Amino acid sequence: MANFNGQTAVITGGAQGIGLATAKRFTEDGCEVMIWDMDEKLGLEAAKKLNCHFLKMDQTDNNLVKETTEKTIKIMKKIDILVCSAGIAGPTFPTWDYPVEEWSKVFNVNVNGVFYCNKHVVKSMRENGYGRIINIASIAGKEGNPNASAYSASKAAVIALTKSLGKETADQDIAVNCITPATAKTRILDQVSQEFIDYMISKIPRNRFVKVEEIAALIAFLASKENSFTTAGVFDISGGRATY
Ligand SMILES: NC(=O)c1ccc[n+]([C@@H]2O[C@H](COP(=O)([O-])OP(=O)(O)OC[C@H]3O[C@@H](n4cnc5c(N)ncnc54)[C@H](O)[C@@H]3O)[C@@H](O)[C@H]2O)c1
Repeated sequence: MANFNGQTAVITGGAQGIGLATAKRFTEDGCEVMIWDMDEKLGLEAAKKLNCHFLKMDQTDNNLVKETTEKTIKIMKKIDILVCSAGIAGPTFPTWDYPVEEWSKVFNVNVNGVFYCNKHVVKSMRENGYGRIINIASIAGKEGNPNASAYSASKAAVIALTKSLGKETADQDIAVNCITPATAKTRILDQVSQEFIDYMISKIPRNRFVKVEEIAALIAFLASKENSFTTAGVFDISGGRATY
C-alpha cells in the first residue's frame, strides 16, 4: 500500500465512480484529499463520508479552474498529486451522424478541462519541485470504439497531452502518467446504449467489468513517491484488450 502521510491530492470527478474510489483509497492511505466536481450534492456527500475537502467546479471554465486551484492551495498549502478523473462519454452515433455540438461538448470536458487542470496545478508543482499527475484516459483512446469517435478521439488527446507534459517536467521529481481502463460499471455508462456496453465487454479477454478499486490501486502506485522514474507513460488496465 502506498503511504501518503503528509501528502495532499486533488481528485477531479471525485464525487462518484473511479474518482470516488480513488479518493477513498487515498484517504485510507493517509492522504489529505480535495475533491473537485460539478455535482455539488454528490461531492458534499463524498467529502462528508471520506472526511475530505470538496470544491464545486466545472472544468470547462479555465478561469474557474485557476481560481479553484488557488483556493485549494490556500486550504491544503500545496498539491502533491492531481488525478484527473472528471469526464463524459457523450452519446453513441456513427461518425457521419455525430452531432457537432455533442462532439464539442465531449472535447470541452475531456480535453480542454483536463488541459486546464494540468496547466494550473502543474505550475505549483514546478514551484515545489514535486508532483504526480495521473490523467484518466481510456482504452477507447488507443483502440477507437465504433460509434464513439468523439470519446475515443478525446481520450487519444489526453494520452498525447500526458506524453507532452511528462517530457516538459522530467527535469524535476514530477511524474505525469495516464491510464487506459476498460469498462467499469459506473454512472458514465448511463450515457451509452446497452448494445454498446455489451460490445465493449465482448472485447475484454477477462470478460468482465474492471472494478473501480482495481483502477484506484493502479492510480495509487502511479501517485506514490516510489514511482520516481516513469513519466509520460500510458498504463494499461484493460483486462487484456489492449494490443499495444
Ligand atoms: N467507467 C468506465 O467504463 C471508464 C472506462 C475508461 C475510462 N473512463 C474514464 O474515467 C473517468 C471517470 O469515469 P467514471 O466512470 O468514474 O464516470 P462518472 O460519470 O461515474 O464520474 C464522472 C464525474 O465527473 C464529473 N464531471 C463531469 N463533467 C465535469 C465537469 N465539466 N467539471 C467537473 N466535473 C465533471 C461528474 O459530475 C462525475 O462526478 C472519465 O474520464 C472516464 O472517461 C471510464
